[in-house]
Amino acid sequence: MSDALGFPDGFVWGSATSAYQIEGGWNEDGKGSSIWDIFCREPGRIADHSSGDVACDHYHRWQEDLELISQIGFNAYRFSIAWPRVQPSGKGRVHEAGLAFYDRLVDGLLQRGIQPYVTLYHWDLPQALQDDGGWPQRQTAERFGEYAAVVAQRLGDRVTWWATHNEPFVAAFVGHLFGEHAPGLQDPAAAFRAMHHLLLSHGLACDAIRSACRPEVKVGIVLNLNPVHPASDSDQDRQAARRFDAALNRIALDPLFRAAYPEELAPLIESLVVDLEDGDLKRIAQPLDFLGVNYYSRSVVRHDPDFALIQASQVHPPGRDYSQMWEIYPEGLGEILTRVWVDYVRACPGLPILISENGVPVPDGLDFDGRVRDVRRIRYLRDHLVQVRKALASGLPIRGYFVWSLLDNFEWAHGYQMRFGVIYVDHATGRRVIKDSGRWMTQVIRANGLAPESGF
Ligand code: FCB
Repeated sequence: MSDALGFPDGFVWGSATSAYQIEGGWNEDGKGSSIWDIFCREPGRIADHSSGDVACDHYHRWQEDLELISQIGFNAYRFSIAWPRVQPSGKGRVHEAGLAFYDRLVDGLLQRGIQPYVTLYHWDLPQALQDDGGWPQRQTAERFGEYAAVVAQRLGDRVTWWATHNEPFVAAFVGHLFGEHAPGLQDPAAAFRAMHHLLLSHGLACDAIRSACRPEVKVGIVLNLNPVHPASDSDQDRQAARRFDAALNRIALDPLFRAAYPEELAPLIESLVVDLEDGDLKRIAQPLDFLGVNYYSRSVVRHDPDFALIQASQVHPPGRDYSQMWEIYPEGLGEILTRVWVDYVRACPGLPILISENGVPVPDGLDFDGRVRDVRRIRYLRDHLVQVRKALASGLPIRGYFVWSLLDNFEWAHGYQMRFGVIYVDHATGRRVIKDSGRWMTQVIRANGLAPESGF
């Protein structure tokens, strides 16, 4: 490490996106529909009534986007594969045009010296599989294993880093319990079953990727993790925070690292996941090659008898710093990294942690001279990178940091109202402009250390 603000040699500096949020081309070249294609068409689901039909039009503008990644200086790019491009009905027939798109993307990245980090599932389940019951059905996990094999066979000669899933908690609970994401259900049993099958499918996909790829392949999973703090010192709130932590964080970490669901959730798991079979947890808990941590904020939690499942709910303490979606709480990144290290990763020598997403939605736009001065984003990134640097200094095996996101994109139920990019996108024309935060990242990456917040 060069100095107090420096990062280790070989530190991975990346940006992240996902297929549905940027690609567009929703029905092109034989692509099947995903649950998001259908969900966005249901009235009232998306705040600005938009969809990812066109999104950032990355499906057509991918070369320009790779140039921008290069221009900023990122040495890695995390993107996801749209399952319905590869298997339009989610099973059986493999669709050449879909695979060919990702083939070109991977080659384009490698030609520019950018390491591809592939995510196999970032929430766009083929609608045909949803019609058969979706993630609450065990067979969907099996289909996912087959899909993983297809993609790994095709790209495994060039892609080393594979994440099976992005944030299974969100796919399961925001999609099947809160009804805010596709498929829009509000059914606790469906949510817990979906969670179990997502995790099981991770295990199946690990096997498939490892057998299709070179031995040096790295297979992992990306989790959304928040430190959970009680809203007060009362016993009730502290216990509520424990339950919330079990439901949000440990519901994925415990099965993956300890082959068990958290005890606090046992009654729910037993009553709701009816087909937990012998061997499932062992399959889920096979060794990982990396853990991806997505960090945005913390959760402050109080006892809440009205939320029947875990009697706990989130509050938003006044007087704190907020973005358009969450509290801004940089210390939480250091806290969650340390916790994950102490409770889980330390027991797995050689297992690196990647910060696979971190970023902030703050309003920004083009100034008169054509620049985007997103000073709050620079401050956010800097404050979080300070935490990463501290965690590295205390010996945590952090391998890289990926900004969410490369481009302003379709932010799920919020539509295009949220701008997370280090590149501004004019959604009417598709024009891209590197924001000041992108220019700041260039300085950081060049220095392999924290750059001043101004004067770049
Ligand atoms: C994460 C998602 C990503 C994006 C960011 C803001 O939960 O993985 O797609 O929506 O939040």
